[in-house]
Amino acid sequence: MGMQDSINIKRTHIEVWSIYPDKFAEEFVLKACEKTLDLTEFARYRRFKFQQDRHLFACAHLLLRHTLSRYHNTGPSEWQFEYNQHGRPKLIKHELSGKLQFNLSHTKGKAVVAVGNTQLLGVDVESLARSTNPKLAKRFFTHNEKNDLFGLPNGKNRQQRFLELWTLKEAYIKANGFGLALSLREFSIRGSGRHIYIQFERPWKDTTKNWHFCLSKCEQGFVVAVASKFLLHPPSVTFHEFQLTQVANFN
Ligand SMILES: CC(C)(COP(=O)(O)OP(=O)(O)OC[C@H]1O[C@@H](n2cnc3c(N)ncnc32)[C@H](O)[C@@H]1OP(=O)(O)O)[C@@H](O)C(=O)NCCC(=O)NCCS
Repeated sequence: MGMQDSINIKRTHIEVWSIYPDKFAEEFVLKACEKTLDLTEFARYRRFKFQQDRHLFACAHLLLRHTLSRYHNTGPSEWQFEYNQHGRPKLIKHELSGKLQFNLSHTKGKAVVAVGNTQLLGVDVESLARSTNPKLAKRFFTHNEKNDLFGLPNGKNRQQRFLELWTLKEAYIKANGFGLALSLREFSIRGSGRHIYIQFERPWKDTTKNWHFCLSKCEQGFVVAVASKFLLHPPSVTFHEFQLTQVANFN
């Protein structure tokens, strides 16, 4: 991909980049962090008690910075972020602030970054092995979602649908940056495949119009959901793995 001054992604396109922390040696990642992360990120990196959590965080933030640099000739260490009251990061002091949307998600074994020239964008990743149960469904899902879920023929289908619903709902909340200000029970995600849509259970300061939802294929034991708001066209979404060769300049 060529470098240029303006944004380097099509208006109707979203790219989702993944990293699997187990493929990266800890020492290699630490060196990269020292070169790339800002003081706030590095302080967070050092606060993790468990090596596995620290390594996941480091890989996720390196992925974020290197991914953003694919779309503009700004170096991975040069990006600056600011956080809203719910913790959602956005770009500041940059010509792409407010134009290039991104969102990050991580879970044990995988981190993802979605990038797009959209109005709003959220992403969520979960392991398919994550334990789910009807109690959790009752607590977090709406009447309609529970009906869809419990109408499925077997446990395996239900497990997958549970995690699809969960990640889609999280991706929507993350796209808006609401955090916990909007409860998961106040909106429903319905449909499947190319026809996933949102319904609100009570009047809410958003409309269902222009929202698009997409799920990755459930590969390598994970599901990834993307929620985006586009004013003009529905987006196309592609999934990619971040390669070790892309970080050759870490050393
Ligand atoms: C924080 C929240 C945005 C997502 O949390 P999560 O699923 O644990 O975390 P993810 O890995 O998907 O995303 C974390 C990343 O999203 C970004 N983020 C943080 N707050 C955000 C927000 N309010 N909106 C969008 N993105 C946010 C950050 O980049 C963060 O990465 P970092 O912590 O390494 O800086 C929030 O939606 C949340 O806590 N949701 C839980 C809602 C709920 O009711 N869950 C069931 C009960 S446990």
